[in-house]
Amino acid sequence: MSEFESKVRDALANPQNQGEISDADAVGTVGSPECGDMMRMWLKFTEKDGKRVIDRASFQAFGCQTAIAVASMATQLLKGKTAEEARSLSAAELSGDLGALPPMKIHCGQLVEGALKNALDATPAAPVEAASNTLSGSLQRPSSGKIRIVPLD
Ligand code: FES
Repeated sequence: MSEFESKVRDALANPQNQGEISDADAVGTVGSPECGDMMRMWLKFTEKDGKRVIDRASFQAFGCQTAIAVASMATQLLKGKTAEEARSLSAAELSGDLGALPPMKIHCGQLVEGALKNALDATPAAPVEAASNTLSGSLQRPSSGKIRIVPLD
């Protein structure tokens, strides 16, 4: 097993921040045309030292283990970041301790980056509707409002 695979396995043993944030300020959803996997990310902001920063970030994934491991790392890294700081993070940076993703897995990190950017594009001040809060729920109804399915390049 490679060092990368070992780190992914460790992250999957105790994935962080899975599931919806019921009072989230923003949510983003993306799908990868490469593999058909999907990722949703919720963001909850708070005021700290006069700045609006991410208090909590969480995710729900229909995806591979690498995407789940990256999302687990990323949602930890996002705490305390402003929207601008979060937006500036690359997929590689969001991978945190996992390090650089192998070429075959780069799109897995991009799925997480896409979900984050989609959430940041959503109106942060407006709470999301509870009825749209589950990934499976939104797959069964047309997307609307802040829930958008955005294919990655
Ligand atoms: Fe699809 Fe990893 S294989 S996100």
